[in-house]
Amino acid sequence: MKYDIKDKSLRKSGKDRILWALERMPVLELVRKDFSEKKPLKGITIGACLHVTTETAALAITLKSAGANVAVCASNPLSTQDDTAASLVFDYGIPVFAVKGENNKKYYQHIYSVLGFNPQITLDDGADLISTIHKQFYSGKFPKSRLPWASTEETTTGVIRLKALEKSGKLLYPIIAVNDAYTKHLFDNRYGTGQSTLDGILRATNKLIAGTVFLTCGYGWCSRGIAQKARGLGANVIVAEVDPLKALEAVMDGFLVMPIKDAVKRADIIVTATGDINVIRREHFPLMKDKVVIANSGHFNVEIETEALQEISRSVKEVKPLVKQFVLKNNKRVYLLAEGRLVNLSCAEGHPAEVMDMSFANQALSCRFIAEKAAKLSRKVYKVPDFIDQRVAKLKLASLGVRIDNLTRRQKEYLHSWQAGT
Ligand code: ADE
Repeated sequence: MKYDIKDKSLRKSGKDRILWALERMPVLELVRKDFSEKKPLKGITIGACLHVTTETAALAITLKSAGANVAVCASNPLSTQDDTAASLVFDYGIPVFAVKGENNKKYYQHIYSVLGFNPQITLDDGADLISTIHKQFYSGKFPKSRLPWASTEETTTGVIRLKALEKSGKLLYPIIAVNDAYTKHLFDNRYGTGQSTLDGILRATNKLIAGTVFLTCGYGWCSRGIAQKARGLGANVIVAEVDPLKALEAVMDGFLVMPIKDAVKRADIIVTATGDINVIRREHFPLMKDKVVIANSGHFNVEIETEALQEISRSVKEVKPLVKQFVLKNNKRVYLLAEGRLVNLSCAEGHPAEVMDMSFANQALSCRFIAEKAAKLSRKVYKVPDFIDQRVAKLKLASLGVRIDNLTRRQKEYLHSWQAGT
């Protein structure tokens, strides 16, 4: 979608919605207060390739309050909230390069625009910015002097790509895997993806979930969240999973587990969130029920083989915003949401602010960690330091008004002793 960035109503909507998010991110607010006083990122340029949402706006504002120069581009062509982008630019003075619905060429032009700021720290979600730098560097187009000090990575898919890069010996600078912090993936991936995926399906289709057969492909943290929320709305949930351990967990969590080929024959709604390619593919479509709804919540639009769906269809048309109807040669109708891109960010607003609060507090504190320690880090993928993870958990509990016990001295001694029972 093209829009007039100076459109006042767009900007106002963005400003109001950013405020809504800011008010629901108390941990990030505490970090921001501390950063505003101490300016730990003073003069540092940060390039962020993230979903351009109100929660990302809250993070960008926090980094700016720490003294950083921040430039933002999208980490997916369909996830940008245009009103948020407009307000970030005009109300907060943060350059944003992103338009909802941009094509691939524009998407990468926007990544190059952020690289034009010569960021010393980068923030990535899916590793497109980092991989662009690596491709450029290895083809001789990116000088060593411009390499960032380090980067953070927000998502499971990005961390997997970066670990592969590390293994190949080609990783050019250190990475902090924000996704691997407990206060990130246990909450954001499970509760955030779970709720926002259902939200995306509901906003796009307004379909009654109760009584449907709902197939979740994968049983990682994101997909188990989706399965849990679908069950909560009254669906009969089937899980398809290739990892025997995770499949066993799904069985004991009370889900029906079976191969995709069998499950697609029964499903009314199918969601992929595996991180892999061609999960729902050519041979599966003709087996599906009439009016099946298919969506993806994994980072990339590779999980559903949309080209094959197009090829085997008699007709294709958009019947509602972001809902494409494919009529197959057997006359059955298949509804694909958001072109197979992240349904939670394309059809809804992504994860709620309350959960992004923890993810983005980890991001902000990891940026400060990089600013302080970059020279001591190697070209590796690091976990978020435990002290950051623990601090985020403590602050979140405090913000929720939840108090917990402390161990007594005797209890601590007992836990450190090998003489059980004494
Ligand atoms: N990833 C998932 N939900 C998100 C959100 N609301 N903002 C930024 N990144 C996200």
